[in-house]
Amino acid sequence: MDTTALQKIADQLIQARRIVVFTGAGMSAESGIATFRDKPDSLWAKFNTREMASPAGWREDKYRVWAWYEGRRGAVLETQPHAGHIAVAQLADTLRSVHGHAVQVDVVTQNVDNLHERAGSSSVIHLHGSLFAPRCAACARPGEFAPGLPDQTLTHLDPPECQHCGGYIRPGVVWFGESMPEKEFRMAEDLVDTCNAMLVIGTSGVVFPAAELPINAHQLGKFVAEINPDRSEVSGYTTVECRAKAAQGLPQLLDMLKNR
Ligand code: APR
Repeated sequence: MDTTALQKIADQLIQARRIVVFTGAGMSAESGIATFRDKPDSLWAKFNTREMASPAGWREDKYRVWAWYEGRRGAVLETQPHAGHIAVAQLADTLRSVHGHAVQVDVVTQNVDNLHERAGSSSVIHLHGSLFAPRCAACARPGEFAPGLPDQTLTHLDPPECQHCGGYIRPGVVWFGESMPEKEFRMAEDLVDTCNAMLVIGTSGVVFPAAELPINAHQLGKFVAEINPDRSEVSGYTTVECRAKAAQGLPQLLDMLKNR
């Protein structure tokens, strides 16, 4: 474990009052949720991004796309947040118990799972949408899932019908070729502008504009710390690189803070 780097991060977090926690798929890896690029069995090694994560793919075969996202939702429902998610959720209270000052921790995630929320994080911005926010592809109103747990073995499945207009319900995620939700991205940019420190956890940093956030933070002179077992495309924009896994490094960081 990269204890020296964790110590440097702890030294900085003790002084911070506004912290942004920016996460990618690696944040959920130890909960058993597949990442996209870093392993031979990552999602984009096994599935075609155009078929599964683009408007064209949806138009070509919405039954295949809906089955795939329902399978991913089923996998999230079957797992639990890990100790790293819980450490993020407890960071603000832990710091306040150490120094008595109020601390704001905002999660800005590229992930579409709900593990940060289930771990207790109250401020979570989803830049790439959520598996749990389906909407009508025609009228954009929120949609309803079919009752019961998704069947993760299906390769094709009828999307539900919109109760308002009869259109097809689509996954509430941002596909390649679609823009990120404007409001969420602006909120994230504002949080970066006003934060004292940013943790960048489990992202390869290859997808823009999300990856602009740690780069902007660094260019604004903010303290930026990466927690990732491997280097990433944003490692060069960090103050501290901590080569650790999320479920190991984050609880250890919290313990360091508690023992101040
Ligand atoms: N702890 C921390 N980091 C980890 C762990 C772990 N246990 N396991 C893997 N990682 C790191 C990898 O080293 C890699 O840098 O997580 C990162 C995963 O990278 P990607 O799979 O590219 O995921 P992400 O960066 O979130 O992808 C960004 O791409 O396809 C789009 O919309 C999708 O939001 C996603 C975006």
